[in-house]
Amino acid sequence: MAKIAVIGSGYVGLGTGVIFADLGNQVVGVDVDAAKVARLQAGECPIFEPGLEELLGRNLAAGRLSFTGDYAEAVPGADFVFICVGTPAGPHGGADMRYVREAARAIGRHLAPGRRTIVVNKSTMPIGSGDLVGALVGECAPPGAGWAVVSNPEFLREGSAVQDMLHPDRVVLGSADRAAAAAVAELYKPFGAPLVLTDLRTAEMIKYASNAFLATKISFINEVAGICEALGADVRQVALGMGLDGRIGPQFLRAGIGFGG
Ligand SMILES: NC(=O)c1ccc[n+]([C@@H]2O[C@H](COP(=O)([O-])OP(=O)(O)OC[C@H]3O[C@@H](n4cnc5c(N)ncnc54)[C@H](O)[C@@H]3O)[C@@H](O)[C@H]2O)c1
Repeated sequence: MAKIAVIGSGYVGLGTGVIFADLGNQVVGVDVDAAKVARLQAGECPIFEPGLEELLGRNLAAGRLSFTGDYAEAVPGADFVFICVGTPAGPHGGADMRYVREAARAIGRHLAPGRRTIVVNKSTMPIGSGDLVGALVGECAPPGAGWAVVSNPEFLREGSAVQDMLHPDRVVLGSADRAAAAAVAELYKPFGAPLVLTDLRTAEMIKYASNAFLATKISFINEVAGICEALGADVRQVALGMGLDGRIGPQFLRAGIGFGG
């Protein structure tokens, strides 16, 4: 079983941590929010996601999962370090990469010489970020430390995070280092999901293209809803009639608000 550090204990990091711990891996979650670390360590879930608190409690009790604010307790002994920090939209819509940069530098500083660590980017990051993370880790890593970067975008939805992570439609892994990507694939093997093994930038692009397509579907049906209202048609039945077409599909055709991730 693998030793895993998960940087960031939000929706993505906490979900990733509890699920890999439940599979028998040894997981340490790292977060800069001391209050969140204390709550998690006490078995208290800071977010509501069906099934999450139970998984948290079970794996804390089994000693397979712990939380800390200190990278030194998590990174030096890890085989895999997942970056799951936030990348919120900045004022012009671009991703704010400051937390990723901080995490990458801190990971680099705490890599152990003579050991090879696989850094896995799970945060949603612009195309090219895998190279940036690799460079920042390299700037801070001690002599003799080895590392590889793998992009592994996350597709969970808030509200069904645990189910989405336990039953992914696909697992996307991109890296210049195929052995590193294959090692991450082994972690995901128990889920039995289709695997897309590719290069870093293609993996990053798969996430952005998927998000853009889903946003297009929602925006499209919202436009159609406006036209339906003006013309006296029922958008729900329009969506039903469209969604039964196998080429279109029913998902993300409900008029309403919002998309994210
Ligand atoms: N929430 C979703 O539905 C979803 C789905 C897919 C992908 N994503 C992506 O995953 C990433 C994480 O999203 P989230 O919703 O889990 O974010 P979140 O804001 O819920 O959690 C991020 C956590 O990272 C911690 N953090 C920030 N800087 C840190 C650092 N330097 N070291 C350690 N911890 C640090 C924060 O304290 C916070 O607890 C984002 O890039 C997001 O776009 C989110």
